[in-house]
Amino acid sequence: MSGLLIGVGVGPGDPDLLTLKGLRALRDADHVFVPVSDTGETGRAERVVQAHLEPASTRRLLFALSDDASARAENWERAAREVSEPLHRGETCAFATIGDPNVYSTFTYLARTVKHHVPEVDVQTVPGITAMQDLAARGGAVLLEGDERLALLPFTAGESALRSALSGFETVVCYKGGSRLPEVLEISSEEGRLEDALYGSRLGMEGEEVVEASEVVRRKGPYLSTLIFTRRRREFG
Ligand SMILES: C[S@@+](CC[C@H](N)C(=O)[O-])C[C@H]1O[C@@H](n2cnc3c(N)ncnc32)[C@H](O)[C@@H]1O
Repeated sequence: MSGLLIGVGVGPGDPDLLTLKGLRALRDADHVFVPVSDTGETGRAERVVQAHLEPASTRRLLFALSDDASARAENWERAAREVSEPLHRGETCAFATIGDPNVYSTFTYLARTVKHHVPEVDVQTVPGITAMQDLAARGGAVLLEGDERLALLPFTAGESALRSALSGFETVVCYKGGSRLPEVLEISSEEGRLEDALYGSRLGMEGEEVVEASEVVRRKGPYLSTLIFTRRRREFG
C-alpha cells in the first residue's frame, strides 16, 4: 500500500490567493509539510498555510541554505525519508509550496526523491497562482493579447538567454533576478525594453513593492523579485 503525495501551490504570499481546491487538499491531508530554511524564520508557504490551518497541524521540513551541492542533496534525502514514512502506510501527504508546484518549485525535487523511496506513490499537484500573475494584477499589466507570446525565465539562465527573450518575445517575465537587478535592468535598457517594464517584490507580504522598473535601476532587490516586460503602455491600475 502506498499513499498519495500532493504538491499544493499556495500562491505568491497573500493568504487570500490560496485556491479553494488547495485549501481542501491541505485540510483533507493526513500530514501537511511546509519547507523552512535553517534560519529559524517562518517560511513563506508556512505563513500562508498558518493563515488557514492550526499551526500544530503542519510539519516543518528543514532545508539548509547551503551552496554545497552534497549538503543540499543530503537535505532532499532527509526530507524525502520523512515524507516517505507515512506514504508507506498509505497516508496522504500534502506539501505546500509558494506559487505553483510545477513552476520552479522545490516540490519537483522532493517528489522525485520520494519516488525513489516509494516507487508506487501517487503524485498529484494542485495549481497555485504564480508571482507573475499576481504582479500583473497588482501593477495593472495586461500580460498577453491576441497572438502575443510569453517567455518566462530565471535570470540565472544568463545574459544571452535574457537578451534573446527580450528581442524575440512580446512579453518576458524574469524570476530570480533580485540580487542582480541592476544588471538585468541595464540589459533590458540596451534592448529597448526598460520603459514598459514593471517590477514587484515581496508580493502580498510585508514590505511589498510594485513600481515601474525604471524607478529601481540602481539597486538590488530581495530574492522575491519579479520583472514583467510588455510591449505596451499600461492601460489599467
Ligand atoms: C523558486 S521560484 C518559485 C516560483 C513559484 N513556484 C511561482 O509559481 O511563482 C522563486 C521566484 O519566484 C518569484 N516570486 C515568488 N514569489 C514572489 C513574491 N511573493 N513576490 C515577488 N516575486 C516572487 C521570484 O522571482 C523568485 O525569485
